[in-house]
Amino acid sequence: MTQSLIHLSTASVSLLIRAGKRLPEVVYWGKKLPENQDYDRFFSANHRSVPQARIDTDTALSLCPEHARGLFTAPGLEGSRSGNCWSPEFTLEDVLEQPGSVSFSCRDPDAGLKLIINLTLNQTSHILETQLQVTNEAASPYQLQKLTNTLPLPADARELMYFHGRWTHEFQTDRILLDRGGYAIENRRGRTSHEHFPGIMIGQPGFSETSGEVYGFHLGWSGNHRLHTEAMSDGRRYIQAGELLMPGEIILEAGESYSTPTLFSCYSEKGLNVISKQFHRHVRNQIIQFPQAKKVRPVHLNTWEGIYFDHDPDYILKMVRASAEIGIERFIIDDGWFSGRNDDTTALGDWYIDSRKYPRGLQPVIDCVKEQGMEFGLWFEPEMISPKSALYRNHPQWMLHTEGYEQVKVRNQYVLNLQIPEAFDYVLGRMDEMLSTYDISYIKWDMNRELVQATHNHKAAFHGQVNAYYRLVDAIRDKHPMVEIETCSGGGGRVDYEILKRTHRFWASDCNDALERQLIQRGASYFFPLEITGAHIGARLCHTTGRQHNLAFRGITALFGHMGVELDPACASEEEKAAFANYIALHKSLRELLHTGEYFRCDTVHKETQGCGVIRQDKSEAIVMYCQLGMSEFALAAPLKIPELDDHKTYRVELLESSSSDIYIKQPSPWVEEATEMGGALLKQVGLMMHTLQPESALLIKMTAV
Ligand code: DGJ
Repeated sequence: MTQSLIHLSTASVSLLIRAGKRLPEVVYWGKKLPENQDYDRFFSANHRSVPQARIDTDTALSLCPEHARGLFTAPGLEGSRSGNCWSPEFTLEDVLEQPGSVSFSCRDPDAGLKLIINLTLNQTSHILETQLQVTNEAASPYQLQKLTNTLPLPADARELMYFHGRWTHEFQTDRILLDRGGYAIENRRGRTSHEHFPGIMIGQPGFSETSGEVYGFHLGWSGNHRLHTEAMSDGRRYIQAGELLMPGEIILEAGESYSTPTLFSCYSEKGLNVISKQFHRHVRNQIIQFPQAKKVRPVHLNTWEGIYFDHDPDYILKMVRASAEIGIERFIIDDGWFSGRNDDTTALGDWYIDSRKYPRGLQPVIDCVKEQGMEFGLWFEPEMISPKSALYRNHPQWMLHTEGYEQVKVRNQYVLNLQIPEAFDYVLGRMDEMLSTYDISYIKWDMNRELVQATHNHKAAFHGQVNAYYRLVDAIRDKHPMVEIETCSGGGGRVDYEILKRTHRFWASDCNDALERQLIQRGASYFFPLEITGAHIGARLCHTTGRQHNLAFRGITALFGHMGVELDPACASEEEKAAFANYIALHKSLRELLHTGEYFRCDTVHKETQGCGVIRQDKSEAIVMYCQLGMSEFALAAPLKIPELDDHKTYRVELLESSSSDIYIKQPSPWVEEATEMGGALLKQVGLMMHTLQPESALLIKMTAV
């Protein structure tokens, strides 16, 4: 095959791939190139040089780097046949081009391996999806250690923004400069994890929300992963993202294949807002499949922080009525409803209604929920088993573990091995029966621990467990296609684009502290749109931090997501109930904009402030939230520059809500006291004059084109 250039492009992005005899190489990925150029001539006349004193020929940084070609990156494929065939050398055999996508078929007959590399560039979202597949074409087994997606990065993509966290502290961001060597994010927790969210931004140093060339990456996989980026000694850079496989985890028998999870990538010429816009559009158009496409996201009441395990149906009926009064649209019974579940030490796996708590079953509660015009949802943690449960007593061998070794408990529980068909069928059967017996339109699907020593048939089985979990969710959806599912894992420990293909909302965090939520929700916003980001108003005294916030700060913060309330509304004062009702009504009035508009973050000058907003596609209306996180260093706040507004429009700027007292203001800016018309270009470039707020408070501002 002679060398040719394959051009994938959208209205704003170009990707040029050189394909010859060897594995294909991306020679350009970035801002859209002009049409009608002689790319072939340009790139052959303009090829990189071969430097002195190293490999005598050019070494391409291909879409699956090979050690055999003398490339000293981390290889894209690693494995062997008991030590043989450890360094394959592929030849490109076939290229299948279709509008917006290309598939490369490659083979190493000596190693008995076939490799397929798929790339698809979405025309609307501009997201590039990549995925690799290896097939064992020989008779002997091939022990696969690694197959990963590789993409090159430009030489000036030197700054990395990565995500980290822990329980109640998800989606935190940090940055490093990478000029030499590698940086790796490795997750061995068996779920997407709170600690190592599989996403990263890499760009020109100092890239901001609105400036700098930047590339965004997200690996769609709910298990172990490795994201690795390297600044090579020759000056080239790349990123790799794939599943992290345990020793012996994938052994391909003759004819068997393994595919990587999909890597979702994108490019922005102007900062992170464009990256998020592309990711959000892709989630909306390609990932999430709501059973009813046009349905508004109902406001939730979740019982967890209101009553925990203390379930009394008569009292729950009071909660139901109080919920309806404040405008709740979906009532969800969280943990504690099933047989023997009085605390977190027992009963996971025994998915039967606790007849001591609910002597008449769930029906009276569901009837009341329905009478009040709400939907009903129920919590499950299907992949778990408590040592104190009938399920464990009857089937101790269904625990996911390594025989002969002690299995650690996390939150007093073990994991159910879903790779055992009987265990899978049992839990599917229990959930199916609950969903068939009762009018349940929503599942909160929880998963509260990591996988440790995940072994099945004497082999590492993280990969198998994650796939069995996907199969379980798929089976539930096949049987109950109208049921919506929330992915939760002790908060935001399991959210990624692969599970979002099967679910409809994620619980961002068990932390309902509005201050923490400002940061968590901002971190999550880089990848996920607001309509799927669970955000609840919690109790005044936050259960996980012990901080107290007024209702306005809690309410304004929870507006920016799929809103809910997580407390006991039956014991709220009339004043509190009126305030809940106010924020719920406000959310309902804004949700069409919040849930379909384009989200953006503002670049702020003072580190203790942040701003974000949502603007309608036609730029006729925007809602902006400005938050004072900590004590301001300055008496005067910096103006808030509001990106995304239309330069040619005039906006009526109106303060809708404030959670701060005016202790720091003698005289506010005039727009604060009276709605004012201002030019979009000026609001963008000069900014809206802010005033110093009390720490831990927020403003809500509406902008309407006149
Ligand atoms: C962890 C979840 O994140 C919480 O919201 C709640 O559902 C508890 N589990 C229940 O055990």
